[in-house]
Amino acid sequence: MASPPTRARADYDYLIKLLLIGDSGVGKSCLLLRFSDGSFTTSFITTIGIDFKIRTIELDGKRIKLQIWDTAGQERFRTITTAYYRGAMGILLVYDVTDESSFNNIRNWIRNIEQHASDNVNKVLVGNKADMDESKRSAKTNLNVEEVFFSIACDIKQRLAESDNRAEPMTLRINQQDPAASNGQAAQKSSCCGS
Ligand code: GTP
Repeated sequence: MASPPTRARADYDYLIKLLLIGDSGVGKSCLLLRFSDGSFTTSFITTIGIDFKIRTIELDGKRIKLQIWDTAGQERFRTITTAYYRGAMGILLVYDVTDESSFNNIRNWIRNIEQHASDNVNKVLVGNKADMDESKRSAKTNLNVEEVFFSIACDIKQRLAESDNRAEPMTLRINQQDPAASNGQAAQKSSCCGS
C-alpha cells in the first residue's frame, strides 16, 4: 500500500516580503526582472496593479526566500497597491536618475509608507537607469542590483533574528532544511551582514 505523502519541508529559513514602489516608468519591473531572472527588456509594459517574483538567496548560511512585490506606479492603481504596504518587511523606493520629478515624488511615496506600512519596515532608496547617468544602480547593466536586494534582506534578517531572540514563541524562523532537497534559485553569497 502506498504511504501517505509526507509534508514538504520548508525550503527556507526566513521568508522576507519586499515591495517595490516609485513613479511609473522608473524601472521597477526591470529591476525585479534583472534580480529574479537576470534579464532586461527595453520595452515598457506598465504594470497592471501588482505582480510578484520569488528568489531565494543565502545569507550567513541561512536560506532567505525573497517574495518581491512589484507595484504599478500609475495613480489609477493606488488603491490596489497600497493594500500591499502592510505586509511588507522592506520597501525599495525607486526613482529614475534622469527624471527629477521621479526623485521629487519620493517624498510622496514616503508619506504613503508612513500611512500604510508597518512602523518598523526597512527602506532603501534606489536610483535606477545609472547607465544613462553617473550614478549608482541600474537594471540595464546590473550595476549594484544584487547589492541593493542583498543589503535590505540582510538588515531585515538581522531584525527578525533579534526579535526571534527576544520572543521565542513568536518566531518567523523555519526549521533548517536540507539544501539538497531544495529546488529554489540560490545565490552563492556567503555573508553580507558584516559578520
Ligand atoms: P510601472 O509598471 O508603470 O510602474 O513602470 P516601472 O517602474 O515598472 O518601469 P519599467 O520597469 O517597465 O521600465 C520603464 C522603461 O524604462 C522601460 O522601457 C525600460 O526598458 C526602461 N528602463 C528600466 N530600467 C532601466 C535602466 O536601468 N536603464 C535604462 N536605460 N532604461 C531602463
